[in-house]
Amino acid sequence: MTEEIVKTALSKVMYPGFTKDIVTFGFVKDINIDGTAVSFTVDITSNAPEVAEEIKAKSTEALKSAGATAVNCHIQSPMIPKESSSQGKNIAPQVKNFLMVSSGKGGVGKSTSSVNIAIALAQQGLKVGLLDADIYGPNIPRMMGLNGVKPEVTGNKVMPLKAYGIEMMSMGALMDEGQALIWRGSMIMKAIEQFLRDILWSELDILVIDMPPGTGDAQLTLAQSVPVTAGITVTTPQSVSLDDSRRSLSMFKKLDIPVAGIIENMSGFIAPDTGVEYDIFGKGTSQPMADEFDTEIIAEVPIEPGIRTGGDEGKPIVFANPTSESAKRFSAAAASIWATIEEINANGGVDNKGVQPTTPPGVSACSTGAAPAAAAPAPKSEGESCGTGCGCH
Ligand SMILES: Nc1ncnc2c1ncn2[C@@H]1O[C@H](COP(=O)(O)OP(=O)(O)OP(=O)(O)O)[C@@H](O)[C@H]1O
Ligand SMILES: [Mg+2]
Repeated sequence: MTEEIVKTALSKVMYPGFTKDIVTFGFVKDINIDGTAVSFTVDITSNAPEVAEEIKAKSTEALKSAGATAVNCHIQSPMIPKESSSQGKNIAPQVKNFLMVSSGKGGVGKSTSSVNIAIALAQQGLKVGLLDADIYGPNIPRMMGLNGVKPEVTGNKVMPLKAYGIEMMSMGALMDEGQALIWRGSMIMKAIEQFLRDILWSELDILVIDMPPGTGDAQLTLAQSVPVTAGITVTTPQSVSLDDSRRSLSMFKKLDIPVAGIIENMSGFIAPDTGVEYDIFGKGTSQPMADEFDTEIIAEVPIEPGIRTGGDEGKPIVFANPTSESAKRFSAAAASIWATIEEINANGGVDNKGVQPTTPPGVSACSTGAAPAAAAPAPKSEGESCGTGCGCH
């Protein structure tokens, strides 16, 4: 027996539900050969016992056909998180921490911040995922240079895409480019749940979640599905944006999500030719709001042409130009967020029990007319959910 024979045999074993084999996925490790006895480890991303059983049986069969007399296949499944002390419902238990990136208003730089913060966290040595939960306007694939790249999908299980050292998934990667989506609240809830349950995220230190603007069904569903460790709000310095950001910070409070800070984006302008910083929309205007909500401004990110071109070309600034002023500020914000998360976990973590739907199992909150769950911040339009997470619409 040689390592090559073992790998060739194992490359006939497909990962359950996928058209790719366990060798191509890079799951096979620590191959040991002693005569015709073979032992090896398969490091998988699923906790499901049936996946482990199928891989074990098929690997043994493939190796025995290739001449092995004894086969020892050790399956390594993701551990349930140890570092996070959070409690309550968690439908993505292999993820240790969840960061919700929110804003009251659209177009203030949420997606830009999510991408750059996620990559900066990975540069700091963490295992990071980035979920684009903006179902209507998924911009993350373009910003990550993954526009048009399709993930491996079989049934309802999907492998995340990878770029710049992080895992990523977006509705944009699952649908055709430019396709318009008109979804009702209950469909948004289902999509968010599937993003957490049916994407084969690795064992992550942190999943950064780029939310749609505002305070609606997506935010409530996320908070009910996983214990969100911390939230950040992105705002611009203008008063109109600040007004909306207050709503976003109040939402964190209602959803029992600790605030890890505010990013004041488009805070001044750095001229590319001279490097001189100009004040355009006002700078530092978010400070009173930070005081009001007992949090801090973790970055003042200037308008820098490299941020926009980096977004459009799929080359995020913290990766493409790490010595730029904006990249340094995003990196400092990422370090501050991680320090806050460690502190939250050291103090017992978070708990989402208080934001679960309030109706008994099997009874719809809508049909009983029951009071909405603790937080139902969504302004509702016709056809949207009642905001209780009942899922009956
Ligand atoms: N500091 C900045 N300097 C220059 N351009 C920026 C900056 N921040 C964001 N942009 C650009 O502004 C546009 C809007 O940013 P982005 O898409 O991140 O906002 P958003 O809050 O996610 O928007 P939406 O609510 O539509 O999801 C993008 O083209 C982005 O490249
Ligand atoms: Mg966005």
